[in-house]
Amino acid sequence: MEAKDKAHLEQLAAEVETQLLRYVQVTPETKRQAQVVDAMRYSLEAGGKRIRPVLVLEFCRIFGGTKEQAMAAACALEMVHTFSLIHDDLPEMDNDDYRRGKPSCHKAFGHAVALQAGDALLTEAFRVIVDDPILEPEMKVELLHILTEATGAAGMVGGQIMDMANEKRSDVTLEEQEAMCAAKTGALIRAACLLGCTAGFASKEKIILADQYGAKLGLAFQIVDDILDVTSTSEVLGKPVGSDAEEGKTTFVTLLGLEEAQRRAAALTEEAEQILAQFPEHEFLMALTQELLRREK
Ligand code: IPE
Ligand code: IPE
Ligand code: MG
Ligand code: MG
Ligand code: MG
Repeated sequence: MEAKDKAHLEQLAAEVETQLLRYVQVTPETKRQAQVVDAMRYSLEAGGKRIRPVLVLEFCRIFGGTKEQAMAAACALEMVHTFSLIHDDLPEMDNDDYRRGKPSCHKAFGHAVALQAGDALLTEAFRVIVDDPILEPEMKVELLHILTEATGAAGMVGGQIMDMANEKRSDVTLEEQEAMCAAKTGALIRAACLLGCTAGFASKEKIILADQYGAKLGLAFQIVDDILDVTSTSEVLGKPVGSDAEEGKTTFVTLLGLEEAQRRAAALTEEAEQILAQFPEHEFLMALTQELLRREK
């Protein structure tokens, strides 16, 4: 990634982080609930890559929208994503003690608080959109529709359930693996593109294209995540490596082997790039798409 793209990425991520911590604070009203707010902030500020909110802000920008138009949706999506990670790490799911370079939420705060912190982040996501001071009511409903559809049983949560069901099986097909990942990972990444376009008043035609781009990117993203679980180190990743094998998971690596999984991620990235080429001012998004294939964490 060129220096100017890297700087743009860092700038957007920093603004998201600032706004997230503004939204989630201990106030006089919540001082008795400080424990859950502390746990929410702990997981939010642990420093993820902020890919989803960056996509929201950038898709809004290329259609002439402002950051203010997209910030609530960007932060809401990062809250939902962070909630999904907190619950994903619990022993009942992936049983991972390390996340974003720090002990997982349930390791730092206990299981009950981690559950509540996840629940509260999910709920807070809806509140920041509903309470946004500049968005029109119709826009809020549209954004909430995209976010809720991507999160629930038809989206990320449904994907997590399929993931757990697949753990007990040794005959998961490539098609089933793709369907599961399209939901557990693809849904929120597609939502990022859709939220940004919607906030930026993109045309229906461009929204459909952005959805297709998000689906390709989401699948490539999860393939790379599966690869890194095998090839990286926990120091670099900020989360345990070998977690998938420990849980007996079928992954793109177990299904395809390392080289073929890499080829598949590269092919999906190329398809995503071809769709992206049809968008205005797509240079940064193009660089980001390529960077996500090459990423080390
Ligand atoms: C991890 O997502 C979970 C997956 C969907 C693969 P990220 O890799 O975006 O995690 P953070 O936000 O950078 O921590
Ligand atoms: C994550 O999949 C999808 C979520 C909805 C959290 P993984 O279980 O592979 O994510 P990591 O590797 O723990 O980040
Ligand atoms: Mg998981
Ligand atoms: Mg996991
Ligand atoms: Mg993983």
